[in-house]
Amino acid sequence: AAHDFDVDNRTGFMPPQPPPARLPVDWEPWELILDEAIHRRLQLAQKPNITQEEMDSSAAWRANASALPVLPTDSLHTSEVNLRRAHHVLTFIMHFYIHSIPLDQPVVIPRGVGIPLLQVSKQLNLPPVLTYSDNVLYNWDLITPSAEPTPGLFNLRSQTLFTGTNDEQEFYLASSRIEVRGVEALELMRETMDEAFVSDDIAIQRISGYLERLSVVIDELKGLLMHVKEGCNPIVFYDEIRPWFRGLDSDPAKRPWVFEGIEEAGIPYPTELSGPSAAQSSLIHVLDIFLGVVQYSHSSTITGHSADVPAKRAFLERMRAYMPRHHRNFLAHLAANPRPLRELVISRGDAKLEAAYNKAVGALKSFRDSHITIVALYIIGPSRRTANPEDGPLKGTGGTHLAKFLKEVRDGTQGAVLK
Ligand code: HEM
Ligand code: ALA
Repeated sequence: AAHDFDVDNRTGFMPPQPPPARLPVDWEPWELILDEAIHRRLQLAQKPNITQEEMDSSAAWRANASALPVLPTDSLHTSEVNLRRAHHVLTFIMHFYIHSIPLDQPVVIPRGVGIPLLQVSKQLNLPPVLTYSDNVLYNWDLITPSAEPTPGLFNLRSQTLFTGTNDEQEFYLASSRIEVRGVEALELMRETMDEAFVSDDIAIQRISGYLERLSVVIDELKGLLMHVKEGCNPIVFYDEIRPWFRGLDSDPAKRPWVFEGIEEAGIPYPTELSGPSAAQSSLIHVLDIFLGVVQYSHSSTITGHSADVPAKRAFLERMRAYMPRHHRNFLAHLAANPRPLRELVISRGDAKLEAAYNKAVGALKSFRDSHITIVALYIIGPSRRTANPEDGPLKGTGGTHLAKFLKEVRDGTQGAVLK
């Protein structure tokens, strides 16, 4: 059944083989436009001291992107990996396009980019915007070909980068390594759920053991998260990398995004256009669901001030729309588990089981503490250099009011600990 959910028993939510590095020749024009953006070293429109030469180069590239014909996408539909590559290529092109436009000019996405992207996105049931799957899950290759069944955590490289910096690559790979290392967590969760069906004394002992082990694995995920500091400089991240990810709700000039030609083509305007965020990582959602933290970490956001309740309550739920559809189905399947672990732990009243459960929840809470430390280092700190009071609360690329949101999710996790 794991197969139907596109979850590999060795690579988890990452595909077992590196994604194709190029589309078939019929779609070469997209690949060439993406290559050109990279070779020109396209710059963000907001780059301080951007030169006239850099602006002219961006404009010349955008003119070439605007001249792309509307290539048919029908025959892409026979290959899931090519569809994903098409989404990856077209969303990178779209973000290169939008974020290189001077802030005083309107955002009009050329039909040769927007229309195929909307068609491919419809097939994949994904929003037509850069997602975690474009940056992380389907953006890797092996550095050294290997016979190992599982990609080594440090034998990975990214396929596509906006900036060509190692900092950007390390930002993506921090998540990829967490996904790969998280496979053991998926395995432990599966074994736990199997034992929960039996639920006799031996099963309870085994579950305690699995949960102890799960805490160790979550601690390692935290270590891999903190490792991002080794290769990704916070100022480079904040100034040069992160602005490329912005979605419609984080546009610095609050411009609408116009998709050229969609009315004539009878394509509806997309409903989801938030930027990518690791909040779209199915792995972390699975941990929340499995541990029964989910009702806490999600609904905890409604305990604050009532005015902004729906948006916050909905954010993590909404992020599921940005996950590959099979993974979204996997989460729904887990959430429908008739024997939730947390209920089992409560009903058994077994001290050892309860301690092991609390330890796993504590490990996840500690992961979130470290994540907040990372966010302080990579976003809150760098933002202080230029902040001004009218800016309002600092927003994540996913569009949340990040400080409040992340603390509430963290506190909600702590709230799941059994007394
Ligand atoms: C959410 C920043 C790395 C997992 C967020 C949010 C921000 C953020 C600002 C709030 C949502 C939004 O509006 O985007 C960062 C930064 C990172 C980083 C600056 C590294 C430099 C990671 C990694 C993971 C991760 C490697 C793990 C795969 C999450 C999760 C959420 C989230 C699961 C949703 C909130 C939660 O469940 O606690 N991140 N993140 N982040 N991030 Fe990260
Ligand atoms: N979600 C991360 C941010 O807001 C990438 O910077």
